[in-house]
Amino acid sequence: MSLPLILLFGKNGQVGWELQRSLAPLGRLVALDRHNSDDGSDYCGDLNDAAGLAATVEALRPTVIVNAAAYTAVDKAESEPELARSINARAPSVLAEAAQRCGAWLVHYSTDYVFDGSGEQAWRETDVPAPLGVYGQTKLAGEQAIIRACTKHLIFRTSWVYAARGGNFAKTMLRLAAERERLSVIDDQFGAPTGAELLADVTAHAIRSVLRQPEQAGLYHLAAGGEVSWHGYADFVIEHARQAGHAMKVQSIDPIPSSAYPTPAKRPHNSRLDTRKLQAAFGLGLPDWRQGVARMLHEIL
Ligand SMILES: NC(=O)c1ccc[n+]([C@@H]2O[C@H](COP(=O)([O-])OP(=O)(O)OC[C@H]3O[C@@H](n4cnc5c(N)ncnc54)[C@H](OP(=O)(O)O)[C@@H]3O)[C@@H](O)[C@H]2O)c1
Repeated sequence: MSLPLILLFGKNGQVGWELQRSLAPLGRLVALDRHNSDDGSDYCGDLNDAAGLAATVEALRPTVIVNAAAYTAVDKAESEPELARSINARAPSVLAEAAQRCGAWLVHYSTDYVFDGSGEQAWRETDVPAPLGVYGQTKLAGEQAIIRACTKHLIFRTSWVYAARGGNFAKTMLRLAAERERLSVIDDQFGAPTGAELLADVTAHAIRSVLRQPEQAGLYHLAAGGEVSWHGYADFVIEHARQAGHAMKVQSIDPIPSSAYPTPAKRPHNSRLDTRKLQAAFGLGLPDWRQGVARMLHEIL
């Protein structure tokens, strides 16, 4: 039996790193980042190099392409819209066309930031997107280009991604809680912190499934179960650390509205994602966000 060739872009990002683990048993994995490949070859992993991307797909003719690379600096995107567009919209378009030419699957990630964050209902895949900033606009353009150009696509919209490796919100809160007596954290944005491990594991399950059932192609919301505000998230992290015996200087975590913490990019108040479509299509359950965050804290504390 010959195993499929899987081509991964963005191998060193939060999700890309976990995908290197979860995709490994599925086939022969060629994992690239913007600088070089894992085997010293001259394949192109730079999403800013459209010709290089197309040539790499053409040379490898993979069964599955997974794109975990993205321009994710939400605030910086407001002052670098062209670069954000090139990586988040143009590159997915190029990959989609190249995938279609060689009959490959294209797996891609998008974001809750395609929505304007109004209301309190969890967003469904059929809801109309209306991004508030450049990052969301460019990610939405990337989704649309893929849907237009590549029949065999899987797009996972997710939210509030964290991983044990690299910086994250929980680590920042732990550092500040050890240094200061009072913290102020936004309490009017709601979503579900979603682990890169969970995203990578669900991706691997979904790939195995679509290779047998191509009619499962489509756009899916994928996030951990439950919901919380950034304030509630900070509270959970700091309380967990206390219970694990870590000294915390912080006495009070004050809830503040987003308006008290202005940023270059506006963020949605409602980042809740309705994941029923994914759970039903792939027969998967999505654990509560606390489970993954507690596990991550166990690793980093
Ligand atoms: N992080 C979140 O909270 C969040 C929320 C919703 C959706 N998402 C989506 O989830 C996916 C994975 O995000 P993540 O959290 O894993 O992001 P991440 O940790 O920021 O990783 C993104 C990766 O993309 C790479 N990259 C940037 N520009 C590139 C280029 N020109 N060529 C090749 N690689 C490039 C980065 O490389 P360098 O390190 O070299 O820059 C980095 O390794 C993305 O599609 C993102 O939009 C993320």
